[in-house]
Amino acid sequence: MSLYDEILESLEISPQRISKTAERFSHALADSSDCCGLKMLDSLFNRPAGNERGEALGLDFGGTNLRLFLVQIGGRGFRLVRDKVINIRHDRLNLDLTQSSVDGSQLFDYIAAEIGEMVDVGQDLPLGHCFSFPFRQADRNTGVLQEWTKEIKTGGVVGQDVNRLLEQALLRQGLVNIKPTALLNDTVAALLWAAYLEDRADIGSICGSGHNSSLVDGEGRIINVEAGNFHADILPINRYDTMLDHGSSNRGAQSFEKMVAGVYLGELLRLMLLDLSHETGFFPSLGLASKQLTVPNSIHSHDISSLLASGILSSGGKPVCFQPDEQERIQRLALALVKRAARLIAAAYLGIAEHLDPGLNHHHLISIDGSLYEKMPWFAAFIRTGLDEVMGERSHRIETRFLKDSSGLGAALAAIITTGP
Ligand code: GLC
Repeated sequence: MSLYDEILESLEISPQRISKTAERFSHALADSSDCCGLKMLDSLFNRPAGNERGEALGLDFGGTNLRLFLVQIGGRGFRLVRDKVINIRHDRLNLDLTQSSVDGSQLFDYIAAEIGEMVDVGQDLPLGHCFSFPFRQADRNTGVLQEWTKEIKTGGVVGQDVNRLLEQALLRQGLVNIKPTALLNDTVAALLWAAYLEDRADIGSICGSGHNSSLVDGEGRIINVEAGNFHADILPINRYDTMLDHGSSNRGAQSFEKMVAGVYLGELLRLMLLDLSHETGFFPSLGLASKQLTVPNSIHSHDISSLLASGILSSGGKPVCFQPDEQERIQRLALALVKRAARLIAAAYLGIAEHLDPGLNHHHLISIDGSLYEKMPWFAAFIRTGLDEVMGERSHRIETRFLKDSSGLGAALAAIITTGP
């Protein structure tokens, strides 16, 4: 068997594997002392009542592109007043606040200054901070970062309360009227928002640069699963997954996320192509392209989206030249990677639904946000078919639905909840 076929085979996830992974995932949810890595963090937020109202800021800090929303909420709906994107890494501007050499105060000063540009002077506004990294909280307004994930490494933040860092930066900018009052994970914010709009939502998930889910437990509490850290023998880890892990900034951690999240898909494809370039004859142009492929993390998930849509692969912002038949094979490889990610996520979703409702007697609404789910060709459809294949006629019991901006809007809702009567 050629190396190419071997790789394709290693990426296949059979329906049996989906079921077994779901079962394993479900056990791990039931027993957090289990060694499968699910952190099951209590968000300290409950399912919303649906009658919350007010005006607030929601800051969505989930990766290098932060989103800020000013929103009026009421009557199970909302009015967006303004929103903006805050980039903390910008190649063209030579800005990178994600490196370990940068101090946390620089990072938060930059964010606070950007917030200051969007709000009217003197307006009192609570701010909900959706911070999508593992943190421990003692109350709804504080959270100590345990470790960075998704290749962010800014210094002086791990071990600190990130909402105090934000609050101090806002004060340094003279923004005394903006009060961070809530801190929550993106999956928690997404679920809070979905459950505000529609009572039935009981699972929230993010499929973007990172991957994670949250759930409403039997007592109405929203629990952050930290699904990305799931690891178990059932995961079909291949040599490229291992290579990626060894080259990552959080070696040994987030095994599941490294197979399914946007920030890693491009790197997995690059490692595979580089390996294939050593096989003579099969991919003649790969030899020439291999120099372009030696730079780690030079293929991003949006490059994979365009490859799937147009057949053209870019690395480091420049197209990599292939013959048409090679292009087609590379597309197949990328599609197999995307399919593997989606089917593993389908397994996690099934595991969560089975944990909440062992007989799957009820309807479950999984509200999903994130660029991978929204934009990656085939991704959402692969999750659906993965569920359909193993659930058969009960498949409609798990509904997956995209809800745009739910983490930012949920953060604003959280701010209103924490300041409400
Ligand atoms: C990473 C973070 C997690 C977050 C997810 C999605 O897995 O650890 O907290 O929810 O990314 O952004």
